Amino acid sequence: MFGKKKQVSSIDKDQLELIENAQKRIRQKKRLYIHFVIFLIGAVFLILANTILGIGKDFTIAGINWFVYAIMAWLFLFIYHFVTVFITHKFMGKDWEKQQLDKLVNQQQQRIDKLKEGFLKEERKMAQSQAYSKTQTLEAEKKNSRELTIIVAAGEDNAIGKDNDLIWHLSNDLKRFKALTSGHHIIMGRKTFESFPKPLPNRTHIVITRQKDYKAPDGVIVVSNLEDAIDAARKDNQPFIIGGGEIYKQSMALADKLKITRVHSTFEGADTFFPEIDATKWKEVSRTTHDADEDHKYAFSFITYERR
Ligand SMILES: NC(=O)c1ccc[n+]([C@@H]2O[C@H](COP(=O)([O-])OP(=O)(O)OC[C@H]3O[C@@H](n4cnc5c(N)ncnc54)[C@H](OP(=O)(O)O)[C@@H]3O)[C@@H](O)[C@H]2O)c1
Repeated sequence: MFGKKKQVSSIDKDQLELIENAQKRIRQKKRLYIHFVIFLIGAVFLILANTILGIGKDFTIAGINWFVYAIMAWLFLFIYHFVTVFITHKFMGKDWEKQQLDKLVNQQQQRIDKLKEGFLKEERKMAQSQAYSKTQTLEAEKKNSRELTIIVAAGEDNAIGKDNDLIWHLSNDLKRFKALTSGHHIIMGRKTFESFPKPLPNRTHIVITRQKDYKAPDGVIVVSNLEDAIDAARKDNQPFIIGGGEIYKQSMALADKLKITRVHSTFEGADTFFPEIDATKWKEVSRTTHDADEDHKYAFSFITYERR
């Protein structure tokens, strides 16, 4: 179990092949060098054989001694040998050539793969940034899409007020009103504004009046018509129309949503009313009902309508 670890050769197949090829090449160069030396000695020998020993002295071709042809032929062979060693590398054989070609093709393939990978990465990045900008646009669109919401508490007979005041006191309804409208713009008629003892906290008041010199506390926006009121709340994604009767009537055609607290009773003597809800234009999307109890004299339902 704890015996000596078997020695693993650190030279891999490719390295071994390179070494073998280098050795082969050295041998080939050596042979070429020997060939050169033998050629030189051979050439000198041929010259001497002819000139000193007189071998084939009388044998000439076109007036030139035979040994010149012999040396030329040999030189040609030597040059061929030289070319195969240094230029065409044929001396390494067909297998070697194929191997080199395969290696080259492999290298090119690797480069192509790398390039492809780069392209894919780039494409992925582009797709991601496109998706991101699409999300940004959607979010921006969402931000821009305002939901003008009417909020009201109305009896079964649509009564909403009497003597410029509410007719009932339902604490859960007031809590809901506060929760929904806090942090938003609240648009109202001058009479409704004046029915408050003071501006409601944490909301931006927009008061509509025809009076040119109407004085309102600091922070309260005074406008002369409903369109200007809606425009003043353009940065709010959910401005609320909070009444009273006159303003509700004018804004029904402009609102996107109705948040109604339907008080399940009728109220004789009421002097202000909410307009009829046209079922062909509005669809009920949610409703929760509360029974009357010791804190709530009347049963009531929170109903949400959306424009069809
Ligand atoms: N139950 C509820 O949820 C609820 C909610 C809000 C109010 N209310 C009740 O509703 C009653 C008040 O409603 P209301 O109908 O009498 O009055 P209102 O709608 O609150 O205010 C009417 C006033 O708004 C101004 N106005 C209206 N239309 C205008 C226009 N197109 N251009 C310029 N100014 C315009 C006028 O002010 P000037 O006269 O100054 O020109 C007009 O007198 C109160 O009883 C209140 O308690 C009930």
